[in-house]
Amino acid sequence: MGYLEKVDPRIAEIIRAERRRQSETLEMIASENHVSSAVLEAAGSVFTDKYAEGYPGKRWYCGCENADAVEQLAIDRAKQLFGAEHANVQPHSGTSANLAVYLAALKPGMKIMGMRLDQGGHLSHGLEINLSGICYKAIHYGVRLDTETLDMDDVRRQALSERPDILVAGASAYSRIIDFTAFGEIARQVGCPLLSDIAHIAGLVVGRVHPDPVPHSDFVTTTTHKTLRGPRGAVILCRRQYAKAVDRAIFPGIQGGPLVHIIAAKAVSFLEAMRQDFRDYAAAIVANAQALAGELMGRGWRLVSGGTDNHLMLVDLRSRRADLTGHVAATWLAGAGIIANKNAIPFDPRPPVEASGVRLGTPALTTRGMRAVEMKRVAAWIDRVMMSNGEDSLLTTVAREVRELCGQFPIPDGKQT
Ligand SMILES: Cc1ncc(COP(=O)(O)O)c(C=O)c1O
Repeated sequence: MGYLEKVDPRIAEIIRAERRRQSETLEMIASENHVSSAVLEAAGSVFTDKYAEGYPGKRWYCGCENADAVEQLAIDRAKQLFGAEHANVQPHSGTSANLAVYLAALKPGMKIMGMRLDQGGHLSHGLEINLSGICYKAIHYGVRLDTETLDMDDVRRQALSERPDILVAGASAYSRIIDFTAFGEIARQVGCPLLSDIAHIAGLVVGRVHPDPVPHSDFVTTTTHKTLRGPRGAVILCRRQYAKAVDRAIFPGIQGGPLVHIIAAKAVSFLEAMRQDFRDYAAAIVANAQALAGELMGRGWRLVSGGTDNHLMLVDLRSRRADLTGHVAATWLAGAGIIANKNAIPFDPRPPVEASGVRLGTPALTTRGMRAVEMKRVAAWIDRVMMSNGEDSLLTTVAREVRELCGQFPIPDGKQT
């Protein structure tokens, strides 16, 4: 960091502090990960200088020959990786990707049907204060009270009676396999397109440890920075018939110039995700989540839906600590070097800012090389912290032990130094 250090020592210092924070704590936010140095290098490349409004071969500005090469490669790799007919690699975020799909598929005022936010859905699936809920009429399906899982017969009944103009499958806090085949059948029965938002599980899908939504969906959106382990951003995949509408929805519909440096980094991450070692990684994410879930349940913590099939789990704190909110638990865990987030659990009596749950994910720990043995230790620390009263001495002790473990499992590629 030679130049930055000279030009802006304060920012250089903050970045160093962030690097230290990441290397000395356990990142268990299910939507976060540690990218490779190759991805980081591409994201920090000279492409940040370039304006490239438009698409490869059809730009508004000159000097785009290298931007064209990068974006075309990213598109080709995305199509190959996901087996999709068309890919748009320009969305700046998962939310922008979803909004672009709505713009491509709907007229204002039409009906979106997605999963309830307070039961695991995402705000871009029709929250009333998100553009998706402001411009469109949003209705929501949820999980069953008894199983805390989606019941596809219920979803079907609701969809057939409500007749949405687009059906949205996908979630931010759902620990079970999503039945994209059934979602596809329901959408066809209703006569509307299916948008599968695989922001969280994209890495598991391409790693072949979660069923593939692409053959059943008209549109698939995903962020690139979660289990897929790429840069911050997103991608839209769609059937050929929607290609033009999707491209126009992104530019000029909701975005101006693309972030070419980020597209370069997306291309790198797609290449990495094609390798066999990425499949091993995806399998290890799920194995770790199941090991951690087993350990926590063995200690008496109830997990929403009774466990996990993917990279995350939701701990129902009320199962052992009726007094403990998700907000307080996440704060104590952070004090002990375990970074997680509070999360509403289905039918949560508490408001979302307090919440009765904590969401835990294994993608980042798995990237560091941790496996079942380490999950056992992590579960023991989580249990110790969540059964405590958040005393400083205990949090400091656990944080020291966490730091020691982190030292044995450095973030790959030497990024920790
Ligand atoms: C299911 C789902 N869709 C979309 C998004 C939005 O991604 P972004 O934060 O990049 O807008 C998320 C992010 O958590 C998500 O979980």
